[in-house]
Amino acid sequence: PRVILTGLPGAGKGTISPILVKEFGMVHVAPGDILRAAKRDGTPLGLEAAKYMSAGNLVPDELIVAMILQRLAEDDVVQNGFILDGFPRSVPQAHALLDAGVIPTHFILLEITEDEVRMRLSGRRLDPTTGSVYHVEYNPPPADIAERIIQRSDDVIEAINHRISVYRMTTAPVVDVFASCCVRINASQGSDDAARDCIAAIRKGR
Ligand code: AP5
Ligand code: ZN
Repeated sequence: PRVILTGLPGAGKGTISPILVKEFGMVHVAPGDILRAAKRDGTPLGLEAAKYMSAGNLVPDELIVAMILQRLAEDDVVQNGFILDGFPRSVPQAHALLDAGVIPTHFILLEITEDEVRMRLSGRRLDPTTGSVYHVEYNPPPADIAERIIQRSDDVIEAINHRISVYRMTTAPVVDVFASCCVRINASQGSDDAARDCIAAIRKGR
């Protein structure tokens, strides 16, 4: 399957993606993860992108569109399909994808309230070694990795609120572009339940 996974920041895209990968074997392509890794490595791309990311703004299309299209054209993705987590985030990005001939089989919209998003993101923690996502209350990191756990620089309340408004203004209209393959999933339930609903939707559509 070729799946676009979208929804407000904190809806659970990064939590659900690995569960779908395990089930279907597609490749997880997440621009946010790629940019954060570039920042950690100190590459020019990472340093440039970090300026936009920490405030919760989108990075410019020149930095992201060609990179993602290139990744989607690689053999492993062409053969196994993809789960796109964080792209397209604007109508122009959606058209860039379609113009490149990349047609998704499913567009999954994770639905959740803004209040819930604020609770999830302010409590989120990451393991930079494995990429695993945790939450101080809902899914606490194991004690033996406690000292390497980090918090994202855009998980402070000002940046969280800004990301929510960027989503409303710029990303939400993308739903209309993919209306014909759009599935809405309740993302306020537990992540296992939300993932189960995504799996059922993907099976149904193939
Ligand atoms: P990105 O990394 O994509 O961030 P985002 O869209 O803001 O989404 P998040 O990663 O914050 O949330 P998520 O939905 O993955 O939630 P998660 O599973 O982690 O993008 C970051 C930045 O990169 C952008 O702001 C932009 O600057 C740049 N960028 C990326 N793509 C771009 C593009 N295409 N164009 C331009 N710029 C781009 O879960 C959140 C928390 O909730 C975790 O703590 C988790 O444990 C917990 N949780 C998850 N599910 C549940 C549940 N069901 N119940 C309880 N807790 C849960
Ligand atoms: Zn994410």
